[in-house]
Amino acid sequence: MNIPVVLAVAAVFTFLRFRRANLLVWAGAWWVGLYVIFRFGFSAPIPASVVSLYMGIVSIAILAYVSSSEQRREEISGPLIRFMTDKRYTALLGATVVAIPALAAANVYVQMNVPLEPPLFPRTVHPASPTEITVHDKKIDLDAGENPFLELAVSHPEEFRKHVENGRRVYYQNCVFCHGDNMTANGMFVHGLDPIPTNFADQGAISILRDTYLFWRISKGGPGLPEEAAPWDTAMPAWEKFLTEEEIWDTILFLYEFTGQKPRAREEVHTQ
Ligand code: HEC
Repeated sequence: MNIPVVLAVAAVFTFLRFRRANLLVWAGAWWVGLYVIFRFGFSAPIPASVVSLYMGIVSIAILAYVSSSEQRREEISGPLIRFMTDKRYTALLGATVVAIPALAAANVYVQMNVPLEPPLFPRTVHPASPTEITVHDKKIDLDAGENPFLELAVSHPEEFRKHVENGRRVYYQNCVFCHGDNMTANGMFVHGLDPIPTNFADQGAISILRDTYLFWRISKGGPGLPEEAAPWDTAMPAWEKFLTEEEIWDTILFLYEFTGQKPRAREEVHTQ
């Protein structure tokens, strides 16, 4: 609760009690007072639509109260009739008649006059990956796993070359159109893309990612992204539909080899 606002409303009510205000003033005071409390009395703001709903209920309650007996009806209508018929109030009445439509018009003007701004869609470029994904019915552990063919670089260099060459083939058959022939994200399709593809040649791009992270992004594509990365907003296809698991790993080997980078090492200690 916003205590000063509540206290201010309470102070006005006490003052009215002291002044022995008539029922019409009380009805108005309750209406305005509750509006002020709904609108400014809470530290977490209440949505405008909910405030209007509450004020609708408040209006009905006040109307029901003031019309609930003959005496109250007269207490309300008496001052209103005097206000409208008494010569003393003619100027004030005229001002009121002008003020009501003027206020409505001002309100419409203010609401229509909001500057047009495109909606902002913040997008996380590298959202956290799931810990595990299923590709071609096989579970892949993204935290503990790594490219199964990576070790061949040391143990069987010839085998390793075959995998890299296979990755090269996959890349130039599938990825080059967007990611470009130098992997600098200048493929022929990029003019139509927003966001544009990742520039793999950039030294700070895939070297800060794990190879299992790339495996996730390549196999699940844009549709597989979590909410904060705006899934479906990117054109990156889900390659598990077209490539085998091995082809994806091979392409990852090729991405790192071509750009002369290394995947980020697995973190042995998970403390942060
Ligand atoms: C139709 C265009 C298109 C094609 C074809 C395409 N990509 Fe992408 N790719 C994108 C776009 C756009 C992004 C950036 C947006 C995003 O992260 O989803 C991206 C992102 C990526 C990422 C994520 C990088 C990061 O920084 O998180 C990887 C990895 C990737 N692509 C690999 C590939 C591979 C491998 C192929 C081929 C098998 C391929 N892409 C084919 C459009 C494409």
